[in-house]
Amino acid sequence: MAIVIIGVVKEDAPGERRVAATPDTVTQLQKLGYEVVVAPGAGAASGFPDERYEDAGASIGDADAADVVFGINPPTPERLDALRPGATLISMLNPRLRQDLVDDLAGRPITALSLDAVPRVSRAQSFDVLSSMANIAGYRAVIEAAHEFGRFFTGQVTAAGTVPPAKVLVAGVGVAGLAAIGAAGSLGAVVRATDPRPEVADQVRSLGGEYLAVAEPEADASPGTGYAKEMSDDYNARAAALYAAQCREVDIIVTTALIPGKPAPRLITAEMVASMRPGSVIVDMAAGNGGNVEGSVPGERVVTDNGVIILGYTDLAGRLPAQASQLYGTNLVNLMKLLTPKRDGTLVLDFDDVVQRSMTVVRDGELTWPPPPVAVSAAPAAPPEREPVREREPERKASPLPRRLGVAAAAAATFGLIAASPAALQVHLTVFALAIVIGYYVIGNVHHALHTPLMSVTNAISGIIVVGALLQIGAGNAAITVLSLVAILLASINVFGGFAVTRRMLAMFIRS
Ligand SMILES: NC(=O)c1ccc[n+]([C@@H]2O[C@H](COP(=O)([O-])OP(=O)(O)OC[C@H]3O[C@@H](n4cnc5c(N)ncnc54)[C@H](O)[C@@H]3O)[C@@H](O)[C@H]2O)c1
Repeated sequence: MAIVIIGVVKEDAPGERRVAATPDTVTQLQKLGYEVVVAPGAGAASGFPDERYEDAGASIGDADAADVVFGINPPTPERLDALRPGATLISMLNPRLRQDLVDDLAGRPITALSLDAVPRVSRAQSFDVLSSMANIAGYRAVIEAAHEFGRFFTGQVTAAGTVPPAKVLVAGVGVAGLAAIGAAGSLGAVVRATDPRPEVADQVRSLGGEYLAVAEPEADASPGTGYAKEMSDDYNARAAALYAAQCREVDIIVTTALIPGKPAPRLITAEMVASMRPGSVIVDMAAGNGGNVEGSVPGERVVTDNGVIILGYTDLAGRLPAQASQLYGTNLVNLMKLLTPKRDGTLVLDFDDVVQRSMTVVRDGELTWPPPPVAVSAAPAAPPEREPVREREPERKASPLPRRLGVAAAAAATFGLIAASPAALQVHLTVFALAIVIGYYVIGNVHHALHTPLMSVTNAISGIIVVGALLQIGAGNAAITVLSLVAILLASINVFGGFAVTRRMLAMFIRS
C-alpha cells in the first residue's frame, strides 16, 4: 500500500506568520501512519526552521504536490492549480462568504475540507480552529490595547498619586470575547461585557466581569446554532443606547460581534467614538468581516480627530505565531485522528458523521456545499416553565405530615420531661432543648457546601468541655478524674481536628 504524504505549505497571504504544522505535530502525524513534507521555510516566521522539521522526521520539499495538503488561509487559484488530482485539501476556506472559491473548487478533481466550517458541537471542539485562533486573538487584542493605552490597566495607590483602574468594555462574548475579558481582568481592569445571548452572563461573571444586559433581550437570540442571529431594529436601538452610555465611560473597547455568514453588525458609530476620551483605544476584531466600529480599517491603526485609537488588525492570532501554529497544528492532528480510524495512514471520509459532512466543500470533485444544517449543543437549555405567581409567598419547605407529627410528639415529650424533672435540672434541660432548636435552624440554613468549614470551626466550642473537665479533675474522686481526662482527650480531638480540617480546606484555595 502506497504511503500517504501530508504536505505543509508555506502560507502566501501577506503578513501571515503561522504554519499549519510544527515539529511537535509532525511527530504526531507520523504516529498516525503518514509521512510529512514541509515546504522550505514554511515555519521560519513562527520560529520553526527547516532543521527542526527534519529532526522531527519530516522532509523538506514540494508540499503542494502531496496527497493531503495542510494550509491555513484560503488558497489562491495558482495554489489550487498545483494540487494533484485526487488530493485532499484541508484549510480554512471561508465557504460561507467565498462563493468564488467554492465555484472554483467545484470544478476540480479533489476533496476539500474547510476547517472554518466545523460545527460547534462538543465532539468537534478539539479541531475547531476558529475557537483556538479566536482565543489567541482575544488575548492579543487586549495586549495591543494595553500597548496603545497611556495608563495602567490596574488601579494603584502610590506616593505619587492614585491611579484609577482602566474600564474595559467587551462587545460580543464568544470565544474571543471571553479571552479578552480574562486577559483584561488579569491585568487589573474593570471589565464589562455585553452580548445578545443572555446565557453568557454567567460566563462573564465567572471571569470577574460585569454582564451588561440590553433591556428586554431579544427572544431566542441564538436559534439552536450556538451563534447569535441578526438582531431586530428594536434590539439594535436599545443596544445603541447602551453603547452610547458606555462609550462616555470606558477607556478601552474590544468588539468581537459576529454572525456567521453575514457582515459583522455595526455596534459603535462615529458619534459614539467622538464621545470617548482622548487616548481611549478601540480594538475592532471584526474589522476583517465588515467591522463593528465605524471608522475602523482592516489591518490598520487609525487615530480619530478626538485622539481615539482604533485598531483594525486582522492578524491578531498571527501576532503570536508560535502559539497559534502549535494550536492550529494540534487541531489538525485531532482532525486527522478522526479521519484515520485505523491509525494506518489511510484517510477515510465518513459522510454519516455530521462533523465530517459539515466541513466538506467538495468530495472527489463533487460539490457538497452547503451541508445540511446542524443543531449544536451550545444553544441554551429551554428555561423551566415558571410557576404561576401566588399572592402570598409559598411555604419554603413543606414537611410531610408524619414528620411534623413526629416533631410535635418529640417537643411534647421534652416539655413533659422538663416539667417532671427536679428544679435544679429544669434549667439545664431547657437550655439544652433551646440549643437543639436554635442549632437546627442555624445549621439548616447554611449551604451544604459550607457545612464542613462551619462544623470545623464550631467544634472549637467544645473547648467549653475542656474547661469543665479541668474544673472537675481535682475533685479527689478517681472516677471523676478518669472521666475528666477522657473528656479532655475527646474534646481536644474535636477542637484541634476541627482546625486541622479548616486549614486543609483553606490550603485548597491558596495558589502555590
Ligand atoms: N482580528 C483578528 O485577528 C481575529 C482573529 C480571530 C477572530 N477574529 C474575529 O473575532 C470575532 C469573534 O470571534 P469568535 O470566535 O469569538 O466568534 P463567535 O461567533 O464565537 O462570537 C461572536 C459573538 O458575537 C456575538 N454577537 C452577535 N451579534 C452581536 C451583536 N449585535 N451585539 C453584540 N454581540 C453580538 C455573538 O453572540 C457571539 O457571542 C469574529 O469576528 C472573528 O472573525 C478576529
